[in-house]
Amino acid sequence: MAEECSGNCDSCGSSSDCSDTKKMMEQQNAQIRDNMSKIKYKIAVMSGKGGVGKSTVTVNLAATLNMMGYKVGVLDGDIHGPNIPQMLGVDQIQPMADENGIYSVSTPQGIKTMSIGYFLPDKNTPIIWRGPKASGAIRQFLSDVNWGELDFLLIDTPPGSGDIQITTLQAIPDIDGVVIVTTPEEVSVLDARKSVSAANTLEIPIIGIVENMGGFVCPECDKVIDIFGKGGGEKAAKELNVFFLGRIPLDIKARVASDRGVPMVTMDCKASEEFKKVVNTVLERIKKE
Ligand SMILES: Nc1ncnc2c1ncn2[C@@H]1O[C@H](COP(=O)(O)OP(=O)(O)OP(=O)(O)O)[C@@H](O)[C@H]1O
Ligand SMILES: [Mg+2]
Repeated sequence: MAEECSGNCDSCGSSSDCSDTKKMMEQQNAQIRDNMSKIKYKIAVMSGKGGVGKSTVTVNLAATLNMMGYKVGVLDGDIHGPNIPQMLGVDQIQPMADENGIYSVSTPQGIKTMSIGYFLPDKNTPIIWRGPKASGAIRQFLSDVNWGELDFLLIDTPPGSGDIQITTLQAIPDIDGVVIVTTPEEVSVLDARKSVSAANTLEIPIIGIVENMGGFVCPECDKVIDIFGKGGGEKAAKELNVFFLGRIPLDIKARVASDRGVPMVTMDCKASEEFKKVVNTVLERIKKE
């Protein structure tokens, strides 16, 4: 059994009584367990490299599952670059809070969301918190947000596999797995390998790798141009013995829709078609009795 912390110890350098902090953490862990026990599936979306489409994959997974009739929530785990409110078109809304906790913000379609972005005075204000404070905010979103009963909670994460990502993944009890996003080029694939290795170290199941921006359909000549190379995600998945979930092309319609707060899967375009196949594969991979 772990020794009770007496405070004033050398190990954490704290001059205050850290047994109180420990008690508060334990209390919050219990709250997180209780809150998360009402959610059937919890899936995090990760990537080693920035800008490869994690937030896009998260909101479109959410929108597709919502259209299928599932109850869905999205936790924006990107404290320093919160994009979920804008991508789901709810960035003008302020969440309510009272003694029962923080209330999630719902999209008109009923997707529940929470993001640090809702608490900023304006879109240009940066969050300049260090890792522990940012991780603390995510833990609070897990413990204090009134998510209610959900089929899915999707967690968007910032790029990389450092302090914040690890604390987030470890804070979610019974997490069902991670979806790793990469673009096909070598540097992104190299970084995706690190995400695979981080998930393996934490013993979190990897649902699979999605290759995003795999090929661009030119709107002028209809030719497919492989801007970032071809097949990198699939090759990496094979090498790492991880399931390959599919390839989403770069699609101008998808980007324009996303900027307007509309998930691409609600539109008729090539990326939307491919994305829906990826969602079906994710569902097959995680199905519980
Ligand atoms: N398949 C796609 N087709 C067209 N545009 C896309 C596609 N995927 C993502 N984008 C666009 O690329 C940009 C970056 O995507 P996104 O914000 O999802 O990446 P990210 O990995 O979450 O970035 P960050 O690491 O900064 O959090 C966005 O403008 C998004 O709309
Ligand atoms: Mg993002």
